[in-house]
Amino acid sequence: MKVSVVGTGYVGLVTGACLAEMGNDVLCLDVDPNKIRILEEGGIPIHEPGLDLVVARNVKAGRLHFTTDIERAVAHGTIQFIAVGTPPDEDGSADLQYVLAAARNIGRLMTDYKVIVDKSTVPVGTADKVRAAVADEIAKRDTDAKFAVVSNPEFLKEGAAVDDFMRPDRIVVGADDEQAILLMRALYAPFQRNHERLVVMDVRSAELTKYAANAMLATRISFMNELALLAEKMGADIEQVRLGIGSDPRIGTHFLYAGCGYGGSCFPKDVKALIKTASDEGQDLKVLKAVEAANDHQKHVLIEKVTRRFGENLAGKHFAVWGLAFKPNTDDMREATSRVVLAELFQRGATVTAYDPVAMAEAQRIFGDEPRLTYAENPMGALDGADALLIVTEWKEFRSPDFDRIKATLKSPVVLDGRNLYEPGLVQQFGLDYEGIGRGL
Ligand code: NAD
Ligand code: UGA
Repeated sequence: MKVSVVGTGYVGLVTGACLAEMGNDVLCLDVDPNKIRILEEGGIPIHEPGLDLVVARNVKAGRLHFTTDIERAVAHGTIQFIAVGTPPDEDGSADLQYVLAAARNIGRLMTDYKVIVDKSTVPVGTADKVRAAVADEIAKRDTDAKFAVVSNPEFLKEGAAVDDFMRPDRIVVGADDEQAILLMRALYAPFQRNHERLVVMDVRSAELTKYAANAMLATRISFMNELALLAEKMGADIEQVRLGIGSDPRIGTHFLYAGCGYGGSCFPKDVKALIKTASDEGQDLKVLKAVEAANDHQKHVLIEKVTRRFGENLAGKHFAVWGLAFKPNTDDMREATSRVVLAELFQRGATVTAYDPVAMAEAQRIFGDEPRLTYAENPMGALDGADALLIVTEWKEFRSPDFDRIKATLKSPVVLDGRNLYEPGLVQQFGLDYEGIGRGL
């Protein structure tokens, strides 16, 4: 099938590459010439495990192309995915300017039947707006080209994006046009594996499903984070509690890990957007507001642990920070807890040496030439002269460190672990003063 993908970011590039992998003829469009240049030169503009290989294989096979030429992209695909960003507006709602600009471009240039697929995360009612924008552009021209608008939200996670796309739990398709549903079924047939994963529903339910999924996952995390704070006070261990409740299949084991707060480009913005959508309808989403407030607080929990030990004024103190990305296996620092932790340390007068396996270039872009921030070439290199080690992201390479060396290198042997990487009893045997999140034993 001929497919165009508008927006070649995390979602667009993964969608394009994985659809090409299944034999489709895919053209990815972006307005950012820099991204397209990197892709045309054989690189990829983001860190996403395995994606470079899928891209390279399909470029070589002649099934995956990149362009900044809108006319070419609109002419190419019968199926036009819109996978542009939907960042939060000032009032928390999703900013639809990129989605609607993409829709207008398609309407302005299309000459034959198109299935226009909203892949971006968009509020309920956006498909209607996309349909109106396309129809408006078509009406300005002498053509009666037909089109359908489909909602096909994406559930991939960064760091595991290729696998998530290739082996989806479910594929949600919101549509009311029979021909479009048939085309979507055919497109996704190779991803079904051995049982039906396509969930076809009405467009508005599909749009709401995406927000419901992210809001539910964020709720689980904030709930566990609040319980972790209680566990600390009560002398209980949240890791034991997690195992104790997760074994109930009605609860399940996933997304119950307490930590120093959820970040990323999606949970924070989608929780905000759903709260705003509801309030526009006169409904107060009390649970979700609490989820957001609990997460905002959780991003400061590591700093509270620091100030409890070192005082409110941290002038003259130096800290090692392991992990800058919002989660492992990505260089993405959007809404990362590290940004809150670093900003607070700087504001209180401390200096920092940070290490992250892939996100240091991104940190340099964000923090510029911040004089209080230096970078280390490896985890141990960050510890020299530090009053404590703060662990913010659970990269695998932090999981089995040389505890003796950590003890010998730190100025005071304090390890504050925002991701519960180690067994407290074990680390304490090495003479380290170790504190995780919610480990009150
Ligand atoms: P991104 O910022 O990485 O990529 C968006 C791309 O769209 C950018 O490269 C930008 O230059 C391009 N663009 C903007 N306007 C354009 C236009 N008119 N024509 C062509 N290109 C245009 O964003 P992302 O992380 O891929 O997210 C895209 C959408 O998918 C968002 O709605 C997001 O919520 C959703 N989503 C993201 C993830 C994720 O893990 N990142 C997962 C599921 C859903
Ligand atoms: C999330 C969802 O998991 C995807 O299904 C969804 O498609 C995506 O948002 C999106 O809509 O963009 P992502 O943000 O890439 O994916 O990463 P997650 O693995 O969900 O992690 C998000 C944050 O939650 C991270 O900061 C992580 O550290 C934190 N987290 C996750 C916890 O604190 N505890 C957990 O148990 C799980």
